Amino acid sequence: MAVLVSVKGDKAEDWMPHFESALPGETHIWDSHDGDVSLLPDVDYAMVWGPQASLFKRIANVKAIFSLGAGVDHILNAGTVPAHLPVVRYVGDDLTARMGEYVAMQCLMHLRQHSLMDAQQKAGIWQQQPQPAANEVRVGIMGLGVMGAHSAGVLKAIGFQVAGWSRSAKHIDGVKIFAGMENLDAFLAGTDILVCLLPHTPDTFHLINTIFLKKLARNGVLGGPILINAGRGKCQIDAEILEALTDGTLKAASLDVFETEPLPAPSPFWSLPNCFITPHAAAWSDRSAVVAYAANQIKSHRAGLPLLNVVDRQRGY
Ligand SMILES: NC(=O)c1ccc[n+]([C@@H]2O[C@H](COP(=O)([O-])OP(=O)(O)OC[C@H]3O[C@@H](n4cnc5c(N)ncnc54)[C@H](OP(=O)(O)O)[C@@H]3O)[C@@H](O)[C@H]2O)c1
Repeated sequence: MAVLVSVKGDKAEDWMPHFESALPGETHIWDSHDGDVSLLPDVDYAMVWGPQASLFKRIANVKAIFSLGAGVDHILNAGTVPAHLPVVRYVGDDLTARMGEYVAMQCLMHLRQHSLMDAQQKAGIWQQQPQPAANEVRVGIMGLGVMGAHSAGVLKAIGFQVAGWSRSAKHIDGVKIFAGMENLDAFLAGTDILVCLLPHTPDTFHLINTIFLKKLARNGVLGGPILINAGRGKCQIDAEILEALTDGTLKAASLDVFETEPLPAPSPFWSLPNCFITPHAAAWSDRSAVVAYAANQIKSHRAGLPLLNVVDRQRGY
């Protein structure tokens, strides 16, 4: 038995000590992403981020694939994952709490006009500004899964009006619920700040585009709709977001994710004064927490217990 660890862009020394202490006494193999095609028949579990398409042929006896993050698009889009193979996504309190912090921070930043205060400070201007209250602002969260439901609770606690949209109807205290494509327009029409916490799937691909953004409420107290995307960049069309930020369709945006990551150096997004960029860091997966999660699941699966948080391959998340 052996576990394989394959993390695009990272070094073995960042991950392997964590695996060696969490699963002592077994073989740990680091995949160097160097095009190696040698077969690894002893591997029974693999922990991956951004695997090469060839990997799954090499680990023909693997029993489950663990994503080292909440999203699994980086695995499913490799296009070569056998249909029967369980793909497990990462769910952890630490990750979820970090997303709640990011969403709250961005919503508050827009509510409290932080960029204006920042500009005033730089210009040495002491000038109070009108301040709408949180309870006058309607935040709509797309995706009411682990991240979205938690973030909804955080925003409610701050005092925002919160609504949520997901594939299936939910019940979250104090949150106005919308479900399915048939209710998307009504959800958007009552949203001042849109928070996207959707996974990237064939159904969510390029969902956020010009036509979509024009459906957001324009009568809110913030003076125009605001987009916060911390789900996946492929859920939006970057060029159309850019246009919306320039022509006033959007007042502002906080973007943690982009269609192309890292965001290329010549991208006009970098210099847009109404766009707040973070480098896909809204909710960072703490290495020791992710490894402990995978190691515990491997131990219990070997003991005959079912895997938790297995992705529905049909839905893609
Ligand atoms: N930027 C970052 O640092 C970062 C960190 C972690 C995660 N993420 C992203 O956040 C995403 C969400 O994470 P999660 O743990 O909350 O996932 P999750 O628990 O699987 O929740 C996904 C939510 O999206 C909804 N959804 C999916 N497809 C939909 C569709 N076509 N129409 C309407 N709703 C749809 C689901 O609806 P149902 O509830 O009805 O199934 C569910 O509410 C991840 O996939 C990842 O892409 C980003």
